[in-house]
Amino acid sequence: MYILFREKDIPDIHKYDVYTANGGYEGLRKSVAMQPSEVIDVVKASGLRGRGGAGFPTGVKWSFIPKSEPIKYVAVNADESEPGTFKDRQIMENNPHQLIEGAMICAYAIQATAVYIYLRGEFWDLAHELDKCIEEAQRNNLVGDNVLGSGWNCPVYTHLGAGAYICGEESALLESLEGKLGQPRVRPPFPAQKGGGLYGEPTVVNNVETLGSVPFIMREGPAAYKAIGTEKSPGTKVFCVCGSVQKPGNYELPLGTTFRELIFDHAGGMAEGRTIKAILPSGASGPIVPANDKVLDSPLTYEDMAALDTVLGSASVIVLDDSVDVVWAAMKMTKFFKHESCGKCTPCREGTYWLDKVISRIMDDKGRPEDVDLINNIAKNMTGVTLCALGDFAANPILATIKNFPDEFKAHIEKAATAAVEVAKPAAAVERRPPVKRAARDAAAPAVGD
Ligand SMILES: Cc1cc2nc3c(=O)[nH]c(=O)nc-3n(C[C@H](O)[C@H](O)[C@H](O)COP(=O)(O)O)c2cc1C
Ligand code: SF4
Repeated sequence: MYILFREKDIPDIHKYDVYTANGGYEGLRKSVAMQPSEVIDVVKASGLRGRGGAGFPTGVKWSFIPKSEPIKYVAVNADESEPGTFKDRQIMENNPHQLIEGAMICAYAIQATAVYIYLRGEFWDLAHELDKCIEEAQRNNLVGDNVLGSGWNCPVYTHLGAGAYICGEESALLESLEGKLGQPRVRPPFPAQKGGGLYGEPTVVNNVETLGSVPFIMREGPAAYKAIGTEKSPGTKVFCVCGSVQKPGNYELPLGTTFRELIFDHAGGMAEGRTIKAILPSGASGPIVPANDKVLDSPLTYEDMAALDTVLGSASVIVLDDSVDVVWAAMKMTKFFKHESCGKCTPCREGTYWLDKVISRIMDDKGRPEDVDLINNIAKNMTGVTLCALGDFAANPILATIKNFPDEFKAHIEKAATAAVEVAKPAAAVERRPPVKRAARDAAAPAVGD
């Protein structure tokens, strides 16, 4: 059953007439006939959790907005910046009115004065299409002044970012929306509080997939939503599958589907001649897991991923096969985070630099026996101490790879030791500076870097 990808059952649902002929904007109509607080109660009862990564209960988030403030905003997070995530674009392209309706229901529930859809810069063509849909909704009195005769006014705007991973982080997104450098804010105040949101006004920031699920909940009722998925992780989720599989793509499935079902039944199994080695359940930012039977049979839910010491995140499932050197994979992710760190806080700015430096020398087979401890030390000093979660995200790939694949790190470092012994053999007559001295100098170098 599709909630987000209704185009699979109803062709042309991206068109306003087709959308409305199939229950489109009924959820908004129902909402404006209710008290705003009742709408929040319905969303709370559905158990919907945020699909942007953290899985925070959506109705609870909406309830944090103070009623007494006259100006309030909804910011739709359409930055879609996590490596391996490509669901929000498909949701917006194939069913744009569903997102507009979901955002308007949220806006009504908190009595927002405007909605901003923040899209990554590369989505400029999509922003153009959304603008046309917003105009269409406005012509039909579903957006703008006196929405559906309720006396409530709420325009919707699109806004393009300039393409930075950090602008997907909610407070950096708000900075960017205000035209400032996209860097996370110090919290508290949080976005829902006065002083913490857009232009200092209370703001709900929700992901595209989260808001795209809301029209179904309002139309069909919270019980219908809760009937799908598991007790603590209700509803469907779009899983973005890529890597070494036959059929990479987006799969909307009930939460609770196992890795094995997702990868082998839906994504067609492993690429020709390859076996599965490891899985990144949440793109670059979630800890890697080995693809053993326990992991493959784990249901994809927020709680089951936590039990595996990883996270569901935005469910960008990257499948690694037996040919992949996981140390190399961890190095690539480390380079990504080093590049994307905004530099505002020291543990993340410096830590990503040093992690890259040490893991790169391990990959070059120049690692030192103490390097694994050194990485653990740097990474642990980055977690839980930074302004935003990017510091933790950057530490995760290496820490989890060391924990789950210690032999692969060991193998690289042993290679380095063997190479050093080779170099230390009696020098050829032509060598003016015996390599043994270089090896000895390297070994005596300070613990971090050269
Ligand atoms: C570094 C970083 C990048 C993020 N990128 C995204 C993103 O691209 N899209 C998104 O929806 N949430 C992203 N988030 C999560 C948002 O900060 C926020 O939790 C989310 O938009 C809330 O919406 P939700 O409650 O609907 O999940 C990111 C978080 C961090 C720390
Ligand atoms: S953790 Fe990194 S990305 Fe986040 S604010 Fe600090 S420096 Fe910037």
